[in-house]
Amino acid sequence: MHSSPIEPSTIVLFGATGDLAKRKLYPAIFSLYQRGLLPASFSVIGVARKDWSNETFRDHVLHSLKEFGRFSAEKQGLWEAFADKLSYVSVDLQNAASYIKLKNELTETEQRSQLPGNRVFYLAISPELFGDVSNNLKSSELLETNGWKRLVIEKPFGHDYQSANELNDKIRSVFREEEIYRIDHYLGKEMIQNIEVIRFANSFFEPLWNNNHIANVQITSSETVGVEERGGYYEKSGALRDMVQNHMLQMVTMIAMEPPSRLVTEAIRDEKVKVLRSLRRFSEDEVKDYVIRGQYDRGQLAGKDMAGYLEESGVNPHSTTETFVSAKLYIDNFRWAGVPFYIRTGKRMPNKATEIIIQFKTLPKNLYFNKQGNLEPNLLSIRIHPQEGIYFKLNAKKPGTDGILSPIPLDFCQNCETGINSPEAYERLLHNCLEGDSTFFTRWDEVSLAWKFVDPISAAFSQGKTELHRYAAGSWGPEASAQMLTQDGFRWWPVNGQEESTAGNESYFVRA
Ligand code: BG6
Repeated sequence: MHSSPIEPSTIVLFGATGDLAKRKLYPAIFSLYQRGLLPASFSVIGVARKDWSNETFRDHVLHSLKEFGRFSAEKQGLWEAFADKLSYVSVDLQNAASYIKLKNELTETEQRSQLPGNRVFYLAISPELFGDVSNNLKSSELLETNGWKRLVIEKPFGHDYQSANELNDKIRSVFREEEIYRIDHYLGKEMIQNIEVIRFANSFFEPLWNNNHIANVQITSSETVGVEERGGYYEKSGALRDMVQNHMLQMVTMIAMEPPSRLVTEAIRDEKVKVLRSLRRFSEDEVKDYVIRGQYDRGQLAGKDMAGYLEESGVNPHSTTETFVSAKLYIDNFRWAGVPFYIRTGKRMPNKATEIIIQFKTLPKNLYFNKQGNLEPNLLSIRIHPQEGIYFKLNAKKPGTDGILSPIPLDFCQNCETGINSPEAYERLLHNCLEGDSTFFTRWDEVSLAWKFVDPISAAFSQGKTELHRYAAGSWGPEASAQMLTQDGFRWWPVNGQEESTAGNESYFVRA
């Protein structure tokens, strides 16, 4: 993990006419340019099947910046110079002969702009094409360069361990592991990258970060959207493959990992892999005791009527695909033995929030009790989205009273300060890739272990070994998800800054 100057390079962007490029990648590239983080000489070559001219491509990029960008290219007088770096080539991705056009364009661009041949091949395309495109890049000699070459690929990386392994073999026959940047965009989020800093740069967390002091960990990633236009994809993936196999498990590893010996990429990734190795795997028959799956039904969200999942377009009206998963995970190592990690993710939930809450154990002897006979536990919340920051819940004396304690928040909201406009995850990840830092990308052993954990769960789902609970759109998921915690004596804490009223949670001095 380091910060090196970016060398002059070319981004060859496959899927240049697609949604990801439009929503995320062009705005990210332009933001880096606007912030002066790209070298003076760089170029972007858009590649897709459509027969576009350079002008059409540039118009498309300009529209994308207007609609989705953090900065306005035109207002800042930067558009002309930026547009000059963009060109487009139409390629039939499965036809090796058609790559010759790309090779010519790339060679000319590198000569014209005096680029040393450093090349990023970004595949923002359907994963079924990753193998073919890698082979075609090789056979058309696009990888023969004096500079470095890197491959960036998007999820889903396979749909189970076997398919992921096959895909990996294909890519590895062309690229070395160090040249492959597997994107998990959660790892590009400001507060996810901040987890290791919060943990390892503050002396008071590490001594408490274990099963002696932590009662449970709760990781929520809730969304208000349904499946939108993605019914076809989602039907085959469901929340388990779409969110748990990657984003949710990545957050678990960041919270649970041991401090790395040094802040270098492989040392950090090694520690993450160890967490995945210690993650308890459930047999297909055990899944029902640890995992809740749900599917949204009709309901109300923000005062509007919402359709059920089975009524969405592209969805089989008898589908059993899950749109919600919550689970109780255990990491069977010395630090975490016995501490449940509760995770939950779903579509059509009451609000959009990604948040990690650490609940600390209660004190060995309680001197203060509330009406329920307890003292409110201390909570540390790492807020990832939409608020970015950290929040502690402590107990303190209620001012002006004689014997009353009340929970108080210590709240640091990083993006509440005016003027702070955190870079988008893609901006950070692209920058990391261009500087050759793969810390926040997933290594093959992480991906493979994540699949090995998920595979028995998906088998239990598809064989109906777990109940598919319906939940109303606009709710926090099935009741069974709440019960999973109450059975353990816990409950889901509210997320997204929606603190509960502290009335009734007050505690009282108890004098012996
Ligand atoms: C993607 C999933 O990886 O993450 C989507 O495919 C999901 O289904 C998205 O909506 C959530 O990302 P974020 O950054 O909005 O929390």
